[in-house]
Amino acid sequence: MKPVILVTGGTGYIGSHTVVELLEEKMEVVIIDNLSNSEREVLDGIAGITGTRPHFEEVDLRDRKATYGVFEKYPRIDAIIHFAAFKAVGESVEKPLDYYENNLLSLIHLLEAMHKYRVGHMVFSSSCTVYGEPDSVPVTEDAPIKKANSPYGNTKQISEEIMQDWLNASRDKSIIALRYFNPIGAHPSALIGELPTGIPNNLVPFITQTAAGIRDCLNVFGDDYNTPDGSAIRDYINVVDLARAHVVAIRRLLEGNQKAAFEVFNLGTGKGLSVFEVIAAFEKATGQKLNYRIVDRREGDVEQVYADTRYANQELGWKAEKGIEETLRSAWEWEKQIRSKKATS
Ligand code: NAD
Ligand code: WQD
Repeated sequence: MKPVILVTGGTGYIGSHTVVELLEEKMEVVIIDNLSNSEREVLDGIAGITGTRPHFEEVDLRDRKATYGVFEKYPRIDAIIHFAAFKAVGESVEKPLDYYENNLLSLIHLLEAMHKYRVGHMVFSSSCTVYGEPDSVPVTEDAPIKKANSPYGNTKQISEEIMQDWLNASRDKSIIALRYFNPIGAHPSALIGELPTGIPNNLVPFITQTAAGIRDCLNVFGDDYNTPDGSAIRDYINVVDLARAHVVAIRRLLEGNQKAAFEVFNLGTGKGLSVFEVIAAFEKATGQKLNYRIVDRREGDVEQVYADTRYANQELGWKAEKGIEETLRSAWEWEKQIRSKKATS
């Protein structure tokens, strides 16, 4: 029998790419999403790539009763991948309670449901934001957790603590927390990708929108960091590579191969790239000249953070494979696709 995987936030950016990989591995997928930051049409993209339409339940995870209803309707759920959350760092500073309510209550309701409906496993979306400004790079999984520099980051730290406390009190349950670094790019089909609302906060959507003429100019936030070219360094990972890691994590849980009830893995490439290096790679990969200017540092930004991926590589047998140019090209193909769709609708 096919494993049945419940994917919360499955019409979102990383969730949709993961649903594709799960379907391609012949798993059955049930999506829960309240469409607060995604669109129902994403399901068409998923079906276009895989030939399969996942089950879809428009449910808000803050609603415990409605969440339980999904477990009643699909009694054979083997594992959960929990992506659903609010994720905008700046917005979380403006609306902290919304972030604590959404991100923590959703998690608590799912853990309660795992107990009530006897679901044994979960993969949780965590973030490199839990490391804050690391003492040294590349950063390993056992690096100290620093005080979070946003309510959003704090929800990820608290979530990891909640899951550990819950596992201490629960038998026969296991969870893998995956700490993503900077996910970018889109599916090579250009049928699914990131759909930022309003002015993008993240670098790559801002780059592609600038190249497409929607934004006049990219602001490079600081060229006076203590890095070789002065701009800040991050670990940009292709979203399809990231999605594949979730399939590996799910198999590890279903096959009972985890070494502890709670495991944590970094998901990155292991290579740090500066903002200027990303701009140069984008120009090379796409042939587009990018208009940019240097402005002050952005408040709250760290100088450099990139992953030590050895533990994930060895234990999961997973490695990021796609190079930065291929990844940026996929982001650009996706941007052009959205623009042509908007122009014809
Ligand atoms: P996204 O916003 O594209 O996807 C999240 C999805 O969850 C959306 O479709 C949204 O509608 C849904 N959702 C939110 N609250 C919900 C609720 N209460 N009930 C049901 N559905 C709800 O975000 P993403 O980039 O795909 O991120 C997925 C996860 O990965 C999040 O937990 C995020 O914090 C984490 N993460 C993302 C990044 C990144 O840079 N994108 C980095 C590290 C960690
Ligand atoms: C990348 C680099 C900016 C925009 C965020 C969250 C983090 C995680 C991943 C969820 C930085 C620079 C950016 C721009 C720029 N998300 N930049 N001009 O800040 O590393 O991480 O997403 O968990 O928690 O904080 O990503 O894409 O915003 O920035 O110069 O217009 O690009 O200063 O150095 P960040 P980002």
